[in-house]
Amino acid sequence: MCGIIGYVGENQAVPVLLGGLKKLEYRGYDSSGIGVLHPEKAQIVLRKSDGKIKNLEKLIAKQPFPKSTIGISHTRWATHGAPNKVNAHPHADGSGHILIVHNGIIENYELLKKDLKKRGHTFKSDTDSEVIAHLIESYYKGDLFAAVKKAIKKLNGAYALGVISSYHPDLLIAARIGSPLIIGCGKNENFIASDAPAILDCTRRVIYLKDGHMATLSKSQIKVFDFNGKVVKPKIDRITYSLDAVAKQGFDHFMMKEMHEQPDVLKKMLASCIKGKQVVLDGWNLSEQQIKNISNITIVACGTAYHAGMVGRYIIEALAGISVNVDVSSEFRYRNPILSKKSIVIAISQSGETADTLAAVREAKQKGAKIVSICNVLGSSLARESDAVLYTHAGPEIGVASTKAYTAQLGMLYLLAIKLAMVKKYISTSEINTLITQLKKVPSLYTKILKTKTSIAKIARTNSHFGCFLFLGRNINYPTAMEGALKLKEISYIPAEGYAAGEMKHGPIALIDEYRAVVCIATESDTYEKMISNIQEIRSRKGKVIAIATEGDKNISKHATHVVYVPKTHKLLTPLLAALPLQLIAYYISVKRGCDVDQPRNLAKSVTVE
Ligand code: G6P
Repeated sequence: MCGIIGYVGENQAVPVLLGGLKKLEYRGYDSSGIGVLHPEKAQIVLRKSDGKIKNLEKLIAKQPFPKSTIGISHTRWATHGAPNKVNAHPHADGSGHILIVHNGIIENYELLKKDLKKRGHTFKSDTDSEVIAHLIESYYKGDLFAAVKKAIKKLNGAYALGVISSYHPDLLIAARIGSPLIIGCGKNENFIASDAPAILDCTRRVIYLKDGHMATLSKSQIKVFDFNGKVVKPKIDRITYSLDAVAKQGFDHFMMKEMHEQPDVLKKMLASCIKGKQVVLDGWNLSEQQIKNISNITIVACGTAYHAGMVGRYIIEALAGISVNVDVSSEFRYRNPILSKKSIVIAISQSGETADTLAAVREAKQKGAKIVSICNVLGSSLARESDAVLYTHAGPEIGVASTKAYTAQLGMLYLLAIKLAMVKKYISTSEINTLITQLKKVPSLYTKILKTKTSIAKIARTNSHFGCFLFLGRNINYPTAMEGALKLKEISYIPAEGYAAGEMKHGPIALIDEYRAVVCIATESDTYEKMISNIQEIRSRKGKVIAIATEGDKNISKHATHVVYVPKTHKLLTPLLAALPLQLIAYYISVKRGCDVDQPRNLAKSVTVE
């Protein structure tokens, strides 16, 4: 949520900043801006634009920047203040010599603003962020680092911050609490960025700035401090994924590319975690005794990751016989979750930076629970705050609508459940072996489904005019229905609801008429007959039905308007397969309706505000 990139070095800053912003556009894209220091005059030069980064690019082409070797830039996801040019970052102080970019929310900004106004400061924007520039100005006595240090002590909330000033032409300052920020270490140039893709074509050496740390960067030096100014020795990590991972590689959209990566992601995960008949999870550090002692599991997550968690509940309960509770992270803290030292909290997050999930984890820790995270981004805040981390290694996911990260989360949940099952001996070894054998086949089944995408596209286009969709599933595919609905509403803006099919008669059936389309997950299962009854109820009310069914099911076409077949697999594994056609349906409907598939309106990939 919001992307920051900053540069100080011996090269031209603007191309680096603009290139970096484009790579970060998935984090927010309602307005953007770049600010640099003038190379000859003690001045800052700013260009801002509403809308996407291409608008900023056009503006810069018309009004070029002077050649500068230091600057900061930002792509915004609006919280305080409308998405327009005035509210776009960077923001300057009153004197016009101090410039900031900010990601996060300053919760006490109104109080600070009131106080600053009393002291003669005037504000241009409606943002919370602008107070930071004025606060720094109010403390500035010739030492920018000291002024930033004082200012951030006054801030409540979450922030990743980049600061430059025309008083200090070779100094870039960064600070963070709660919002991600990395430092890129180059040769005679250094960078700050919200996420690694922004700087990957310049350097692979990065420092993950920790919460409560700040840094000063010049072209030849990086120093890290805590908020009291005490020097901290930074750890330099190396980013290993290739630049290709953050390019579309010939696909029209990142989402399509990422859907096609699913067979590989799962294949690699299974190859590295299944050793003979054992499941070996790198990062898992609970002893057999600790597993035996687990009294209950709570899963916390948001959005798509929450749906993965819901599937996880069915899997863990079925395989390991441990009671599982699933909470949306943003609600977890507001009830009184009963946890103990024998409780495990599994936090699922692609980014590992979702503010609500981090808050839930902190609450759970306080209550004594052990935190296991399932996370995609290496070195993320969640990974650092967990007792054990199971990385999904799905690679960077750029499309805002999560696809490969979701199925990778599911994959990891299956492996974890099998691991727990083995220790708890809740199901027989032969049942475990059958499941493992079937699980290993899923990557090739994905490839098979992807080969049918043209016929899925046809069905999607035929139904793309419907103004409302319902997604129904039962049992382990109830979450699949929720995820299908989420995918569709995220990228096509069609109201879509995911429901437990059994609940249809308690409300959603009132929606059904010839103008509604209902997607029914009717794969082979113990509740198949009940799904058929639901389909009949919909058809008798003239609703259109797209059924997701198991290959070889000849009966289903008698009932449904359209059928999308997925290969046969173990009943418990059907959510892994059914996810893929639902992603494809959402994708093709979005394209047909002319929506922005990868950057749907109002959404952001990584939600770092509560
Ligand atoms: C945002 C994204 C979703 C994602 C959710 C949770 O809403 O648009 O795709 O599922 O955040 O993100 P996380 O990084 O915690 O999985």
